[in-house]
Amino acid sequence: MSAPAEVPDLVARALDLSRRRGFITSTRNETGRLLATLAASRQGTLAELGTGCGGGSARRSRGAPKGARIGTAERDPDLTRAVPAIFHDAENVEVTAGDWTVLEQYAPFSLLFVDVREVMESIDVLADLLEAGGIAVLDDFVPSPFWPPIVDGQVDTVREQWLTDERFAAVELLIDPDASLIIATRR
Ligand SMILES: C[S@@+](CC[C@H](N)C(=O)[O-])C[C@H]1O[C@@H](n2cnc3c(N)ncnc32)[C@H](O)[C@@H]1O
Repeated sequence: MSAPAEVPDLVARALDLSRRRGFITSTRNETGRLLATLAASRQGTLAELGTGCGGGSARRSRGAPKGARIGTAERDPDLTRAVPAIFHDAENVEVTAGDWTVLEQYAPFSLLFVDVREVMESIDVLADLLEAGGIAVLDDFVPSPFWPPIVDGQVDTVREQWLTDERFAAVELLIDPDASLIIATRR
């Protein structure tokens, strides 16, 4: 923990759902705080690909200004049935069931949290979903001291592409000794 253990009520509900379901891939506290921090500078639609138990949406909802919309897509029907209850009193959050592409209809996005590894490979589609100045946050990389980044003996070509694509100004941030993420701002 690099921050106080207390979390906002909405986030506590998401963590509680994660615990009850044994869902172990919820967003870490540090990433969640980063999402809320970025959300506070955004207007319009703040989207997420891969809702999980709602942690990332709770964080964006807490950070975003009044009037901003929080959209999220999840393909697991059990989760899309359970998660909306968390947000019963958060009018700005909408959970959409289905593959991440169902969110394309709500673009352009001012913030896009990409929390599914395979989806990050679709950099061309994702670039087109962001407004100019829009920020993509890509989670769950394994830190590598090398360039190009190497994980399990292989070049991480997805990370390499996001960090070198001319459409973005991008940086990799260490979130924990064993985890990093990419922040990429659309030019
Ligand atoms: C790492 S978890 C998400 C955690 C969540 N973002 C949070 O903040 O706690 C990834 C989620 O993405 C969902 N997922 C995987 N592939 C997907 C796809 N193609 N479209 C939508 N959701 C997907 C999984 O079912 C899983 O719930």
